[in-house]
Amino acid sequence: KGDSTLSITVVGASGDLAKKKIFPALFALYYEDWLPENFVVFGYSRTKMNDEELRNMISGTLTCRIDRRANCDEKMSEFLKRCFYQSGQYNSEEHFSELDCKIKEKEGGRPSNRLFYLSIPPNIFVDVVRCASTQASSTSGWTRVIVEKPFGRDSKSSNELTRCLKKYLTEDQIFRIDHYLGKELVENLSVLRFSNLVFEPLWSRNYIRNVQFIFSEDFGTEGRGGYFDNYGIIRDIMQNHLLQILTLFAMETPVSLDAEDIRNEKVKVLRSMKPLQLEDVIVGQYKGHNKGGKSYQGYTDDPTVPKNSVTPTFAAAALFINNARWDGVPFLMKAGKALHTKRAEIRVQFRHVPGNLYKRNFGTDLDKATNELVLRVQPDEAVYLKINNKVPGLGMRLDRSDLNLLYKTRYTREIPDAYERLLLDAIEGERRLFIRSDELDAAWSLFTPLLKELEDRKIAPELYPYGSRGPVGAHYLAAKHNVRWGDLA
Ligand code: BG6
Repeated sequence: KGDSTLSITVVGASGDLAKKKIFPALFALYYEDWLPENFVVFGYSRTKMNDEELRNMISGTLTCRIDRRANCDEKMSEFLKRCFYQSGQYNSEEHFSELDCKIKEKEGGRPSNRLFYLSIPPNIFVDVVRCASTQASSTSGWTRVIVEKPFGRDSKSSNELTRCLKKYLTEDQIFRIDHYLGKELVENLSVLRFSNLVFEPLWSRNYIRNVQFIFSEDFGTEGRGGYFDNYGIIRDIMQNHLLQILTLFAMETPVSLDAEDIRNEKVKVLRSMKPLQLEDVIVGQYKGHNKGGKSYQGYTDDPTVPKNSVTPTFAAAALFINNARWDGVPFLMKAGKALHTKRAEIRVQFRHVPGNLYKRNFGTDLDKATNELVLRVQPDEAVYLKINNKVPGLGMRLDRSDLNLLYKTRYTREIPDAYERLLLDAIEGERRLFIRSDELDAAWSLFTPLLKELEDRKIAPELYPYGSRGPVGAHYLAAKHNVRWGDLA
């Protein structure tokens, strides 16, 4: 709190992400009383608008979902009064200096901190950072910049971006967001592991057979085909969201919960992994399909996607961590668009019980008897553990049941959006959930050779129907490592 002013400038204010996620998250923080007393929000983009028009544009997306108190309308109008707009080009120092004047006016001579959220395409990151840092940074407090992926397309372009950003900003000023790190269940991963005696002792190759990170969406790239075709699912989901969760899952116990201690451990995991090769992945692409009387377009039917595109909309990969804890344990990832369901989860499959006394109760398929811990990141957040249990009665019949912690029945509070947590952390200078440049570099090193090979050789993806469970190749990949996908079991 205190008497300084915080200004938050959303660069790219008229874009989709800003409207759907950033402004609503800022309002939620305000509504919940997390923002400092003196704060202002600026929208900046090329669209010509005045303050009132910005307010009208964002007002429809704000909700008081956290808690429907009677003062919702009042809080909204208070918040909107603190929102202002400046239109300008992204590479115009002059326009950023006009923004600076407007921010100064609101600061009224008080000490100030300034946060810039870059909700813009990556090809203009550097222009904006140059203009903002030279023309509109705080002279009395901190200036921080949040950037959203894609951070380049491969090691080379990512390192180049890092180098350019660092001409104008220090590493401490750059907050690279990966919104999956702001999700409640992902935050909970470390809590589960490090604050319960029953998990951490099992967290190694001695007891864990494989770990699966699964992301699926039940819609295609509708409307985003043009963007997506440049990146593909490996860059869009695996190299960042799933890999980040994997590193948190697999890291050694950090010295403390301090951001540097945690990020040091995450980097070590990445450096212990061998870069992926063609044989470690399978790629797929969805095709048009008629389902339930409705027809769904295939990926290349999108007019913004080249007809001969081989960009994957699905990929499955097997990764290995070459260290004492995880040697030989397959870490499988699967990510896809236009699948039969929308889901993100972490599945931990444990080994068989040695000399299981109840072996005969499971027939020949001992896999049916293994324990599995699932963290369902979304939807319907949950943590559940599959255990074997005696069916009540005089006989001896076992079945697999869940110890089930379903959030919506256990907690009455709604779960905050990932962007709320991340924005708040950036404001508070908490870097734990943001990606450090060495982490980013190590993450790209794992995927760059594979991406190059896929693209140079134009490897054709396996087609799968829109709304299906994805290419069968994913099963073969898993089977090669003696794994069955838990979500399809
Ligand atoms: C983004 C990807 O990072 O994450 C999108 O670019 C994807 O393609 C989105 O749809 C998924 O996020 P969430 O929070 O809706 O699961």
